[in-house]
Amino acid sequence: MTEVQLQEFKLDPDSELRFEVESKNEKVVLEIKSGYAELFGTELVKGKPYEFHTGAKVAVFTWHGCTVELRGRTEVSYVAKETPMVVYLNVHAALEQQRVAAETENTRGPVTMIVGPGDVGKSTLTKLLLNYAVRMGRRPLYVDLDVGQGQISVPGTVGALLIERPASIEEGFSQQAPLVYHFGHKSPSDNLELYNTIVSRLAEVITEKCEGNKKERSTSQRAEVRDSRIREYFYGKRTPYYPHSFDVKFTDLKIYKVVERSTSQRAEVRDSRIREYFYGKRTPYYPHSFDVKFTDLKIYKVVERSTSQRAEVRDSRIREYFYGKRTPYYPHSFDVKFTDLKIYKVGAPSLPDSCMPLGMRREDALTKLVSVWPSPALQHRLLAVSFAAGPDDDVLTSNLAGFVCVTAVDMDTQKLTILSPQPRPLPNTVLLLSELQYMDNQ
Ligand SMILES: Nc1ncnc2c1ncn2[C@@H]1O[C@H](COP(=O)(O)OP(=O)(O)OP(=O)(O)O)[C@@H](O)[C@H]1O
Ligand SMILES: [Mg+2]
Repeated sequence: MTEVQLQEFKLDPDSELRFEVESKNEKVVLEIKSGYAELFGTELVKGKPYEFHTGAKVAVFTWHGCTVELRGRTEVSYVAKETPMVVYLNVHAALEQQRVAAETENTRGPVTMIVGPGDVGKSTLTKLLLNYAVRMGRRPLYVDLDVGQGQISVPGTVGALLIERPASIEEGFSQQAPLVYHFGHKSPSDNLELYNTIVSRLAEVITEKCEGNKKERSTSQRAEVRDSRIREYFYGKRTPYYPHSFDVKFTDLKIYKVVERSTSQRAEVRDSRIREYFYGKRTPYYPHSFDVKFTDLKIYKVVERSTSQRAEVRDSRIREYFYGKRTPYYPHSFDVKFTDLKIYKVGAPSLPDSCMPLGMRREDALTKLVSVWPSPALQHRLLAVSFAAGPDDDVLTSNLAGFVCVTAVDMDTQKLTILSPQPRPLPNTVLLLSELQYMDNQ
């Protein structure tokens, strides 16, 4: 047995503790002993143990100073004083300013696209900005166009998720009802035509939804709703109440001030401190918001991941889809007859223009549905379960219900064994073949 390594770090304000867990089957437990700290925008609760497993690369940041304890073996662990957090916070403040302006002018809030080379921390910055936005009471939409290392659903898809709560430290953002489209490959270059089709569809749906949301509830409408809730408390909804009105002498009143604050209230206080830093308290400050050229920014390459590490991350995202992260899921496994399945692949082999039917472009073949008859090659493949009712429906631009994985193909009995988040039967819809594979050995 290896002994558990215990490390304690005292962090000054504006610094971060970075650590990596590399050894196989290793687990590191982190605990905040005193002070306040956050992990990529999610607040860490003092005294609560958080587990990190092999492959984790973590940065615990503190605005106010804290003491952190690590239990377990870390390959790297050090405190860094130079962090990009102030730059990140500035971006958040600029976005918040645009949201406030959009609210008063009743226009659409800011849309931010984060791009950059591999492993510079794009996904992490996205998570942080989303976390800060929800902590300010916003409901941002997270759109992930990364088909290789995406954070929504499984790899090989693009999707959008409405964020209503900060990401959980161990489980990430709640994956309730994401909007997901099938791509089926690890890189956009594998089928640019299809990539453009689904990204355009995603943009259309999101634009409609944003317009709808805006119409649904303007700030004044929200105030009206609040108002009518209070009115209903006194006067009832359907069944009328008859409230009393009478005079009370000041001396007959005892008013208590409740000073106990909940974690969320504490978070709000911290939040408002940050707001005050930029906008002032009583004396208003006038912070500036301006565009910064990419070349003027110092972007740190936080880590470098090898191709095999990227493949492992993809694999573990699929495993988590079926088996859960910290909260375990219990997927089902069952057989399905070949004849009960409608499997399609997107993209027919490309033919020279001279062989194409009249009026068809060569690129059109890339978004054609091709029927697939099961064969042993399907083993370990992911199949996307489409909401499209049949192949004549708009299959490519239909949202996905979820995924199943083919764990065995029996050509003799003409049956597939399938791993599925839901019990049988498979919904009678179109299944789309993904290039992504998952070896189920749990
Ligand atoms: N500020 C930071 N300090 C320390 N580690 C960080 C920081 N930002 C990100 N990381 C870690 O670096 C790794 C890569 O970050 P991330 O996945 O955000 O990069 P990316 O640019 O989205 O990469 P990809 O191109 O693969 O999508 C992650 O494990 C993340 O936890
Ligand atoms: Mg990323």
